[in-house]
Amino acid sequence: MTLSEGILRQKLAQPFRYYQRVASTNDLAKTWLLDGAPDGAVVIADEQARGRGRKGRIWRTPPGTALAVSIVMRPAAARIARINMIGALSVFDLAAQVGCEDIGIKWPNDIQVQGKKISGILVENVWMQGSLHGAVLGIGVNIRIDFSQTDLRETAISLEDVTGFSLNRADLIRSLLERVAYWYQRIESDDLFDTWRSRLSMLGCPVVAEGVRGRALDVTAAGGLLVEDEFDALHEIITGEITAVTQERSAE
Ligand code: BTN
Repeated sequence: MTLSEGILRQKLAQPFRYYQRVASTNDLAKTWLLDGAPDGAVVIADEQARGRGRKGRIWRTPPGTALAVSIVMRPAAARIARINMIGALSVFDLAAQVGCEDIGIKWPNDIQVQGKKISGILVENVWMQGSLHGAVLGIGVNIRIDFSQTDLRETAISLEDVTGFSLNRADLIRSLLERVAYWYQRIESDDLFDTWRSRLSMLGCPVVAEGVRGRALDVTAAGGLLVEDEFDALHEIITGEITAVTQERSAE
């Protein structure tokens, strides 16, 4: 069964557009958002020719190997930072549902299994004349990408490498969208932030984040990372990523 047939059988709750091959699902979702897509509308593709990652990086989505999903969201502007958390928690839940253990969120929103990245999330906000028009939550999940011959072999992994059995991508997309809807309904609740915080794998660890070397102390309500440097100065990293980490927690 092709992915498109599988998706049709799922009878998704959300309005969706499916494509065999696109440049980037986030780009199509942003265009649809501007054309009036309803809250929760979804763009799905089997393959991305120019999938985009964070910080201008390329995100690989070869045909038949991954999930590439972008969801249109129209949250209150004050809650925009929580879209990242919704994405991370939804992929975390998906990995748990298929039996993964040792799952963690590497701040802000990379999902790792056994310390390797299985998923990346790219949230893009769309502003018009100074007001928020909406956001696109783009989620990529590695299902059966073979990283063994690439320079990502030490840092990336596919879900099927972990489960050891074959996964149905249409089923995974439905489960993922259910988790996104679940967490999106909780966008106002403390549960969303508290669960995201509790699943971060690096709090208490020595890290380097956006050039700041120190210990990841905590996160702020807006999703920023608090890093204490060797001089006990506190830095809030609002956006960016952790580029180095030692998983051993330092003594309290
Ligand atoms: C990262 O750098 O970790 C973020 C990767 C985000 C990839 C997803 S795949 C679906 C959506 N479309 C894109 O072009 N990017 C996101």
